[in-house]
Amino acid sequence: MKANAGNGAASTGAAAVLCGVGGHVPGPVLTNADLTARFDTSDEWIVTRTGIRARHVVEPGTATSDLAVRAGAAALASAGDASVDLLLLATTTPDRPCPGTAPTVARGLGLGGVPALDVNAVCSGFVYGLAAAAGFVAAGLARRVLLIGADTFTTLLDPGDRDTATVFGDGAGAVVLRAGRAGEPGALLAFDLGSDGGLADLITVPAGGSRAPLTAGAPVPDDARFTMSGRAVYRHAVQRMTESSRAALDAAGWKPGDVDRFVGHQANLRILTTVADELGIGADRAYANVDRVGNTAAASIPLALADAAAAGTLRPGDRVLLTAFGGGATWGSCALVWPELPHAEPMTACPAP
Ligand code: UT7
Repeated sequence: MKANAGNGAASTGAAAVLCGVGGHVPGPVLTNADLTARFDTSDEWIVTRTGIRARHVVEPGTATSDLAVRAGAAALASAGDASVDLLLLATTTPDRPCPGTAPTVARGLGLGGVPALDVNAVCSGFVYGLAAAAGFVAAGLARRVLLIGADTFTTLLDPGDRDTATVFGDGAGAVVLRAGRAGEPGALLAFDLGSDGGLADLITVPAGGSRAPLTAGAPVPDDARFTMSGRAVYRHAVQRMTESSRAALDAAGWKPGDVDRFVGHQANLRILTTVADELGIGADRAYANVDRVGNTAAASIPLALADAAAAGTLRPGDRVLLTAFGGGATWGSCALVWPELPHAEPMTACPAP
C-alpha cells in the first residue's frame, strides 16, 4: 500500500509533524562475553553475523510499560510541550495479554484521560504507529500524538535458545507528532505498508493465544516461547525492506541519492548495510546503534532516531528514510525531512543495580 500523507488525501489536509524524540533502555547490559559463557558461540560469530556487541535487558519485575513511560517522558521533554491528546503504543510484549498497555502508560505519564491504544505489528510496529498517528491527525481526531515503541522481547525468549538470545534486547523509544503543514520539516511525507500472513510462522509465540490457549494450572508448554526462523526472516527482511523503501521513495518523489540518513529496523547490521547498498543509498548513510542495543523490536527505530539526533548524526533538513520488517509478516517505510527539535538527549538507561 502506497500513500502520500501530505497531499490532502485526508479530510483536514493536516500533516503529522515530528517535534520530539526520546529513548530509554534498562540498566543491565548483556555482553557477547556473557553469552559465550552460556552458549556455544563466540564474540567473533556474533559480531560478524549480526554486528551486535551488547544489549540491555530488563530484570524480573520490570515491564514494557515501565520502559515506555521513561521513553515517553524523554520525548515530551524533547518537544518542549508535554500536552498530547492521543497515545499510541507499538508493542508485541504488553504488560499482560489483556488489557492493552497504552492506558497504563498514559496514566504513568499523567496524561489524564487521553485515548490510548496498542498497535501490534511486531518490529514494524513503530512505522505502522507513525501511519496511524498521521491518519488520526489528518482526520482531525488528534492534534498532538505521543507514539511510543516499546518491547521486552527477552521476557518471551527460550532461555536455552542461542539464536534468539544473541539477537534481542529490551528498550523503548518515542516521538511526539503535532498537526502541521506537509511542507514543513518533520512532516511525515510518504508511507508504504504491507503484510503477508502466510509468513506468520516465521516469527511467533505459537501458544498462549485463542488458537492454543494456556490452561490454568498446567505447565507452560515449550511453544509458549518465542521462535524465529532466522535465515528465512533474513531473506524476507532484505527483500521487503528494499521493495518497501523504493515504494516510499517513489511516493515522496525522492531518488535514493536524495536520502541523507537511512534509519532501518535495527535487527542485524548486515541487513541494514545490504538494504542500503541495494537501494543505492550506500551503507555509509545507514545509521546503526544495533551494536549497543541489539534488536529491540518496535523500539528499535525510535531508539535509533533518539541516539542519532542527540549525536548530531541526524541534522535539521536531512532527508530521512525509515524502513522495517517484522513478524506477521509486516513491513513498512516512511519518508520525512528531519526537523529542528527544541532538545534531544541520547537514550537514557536505568542505573545498573
Ligand atoms: O526483528 C524481526 C526481523 N528479524 C530479523 O531480521 C533477524 C533476521 N535473521 C538474522 O539476523 C540471522 O538469520 C541470525 C543472526 C538470526 C542468524 O544468522 P545466520 O547468518 O542467518 O545464521 P544461520 O541461522 O544461517 O546459521 C549459520 C550457522 C549454523 O551452523 P551450520 O549449520 O552452518 O554448521 C548455525 O548453527 O551458524 C550457526 N549459528 C551460530 N553459531 C554461533 C547460529 N547461531 C549461532 C550463534 N553462535 N549465536
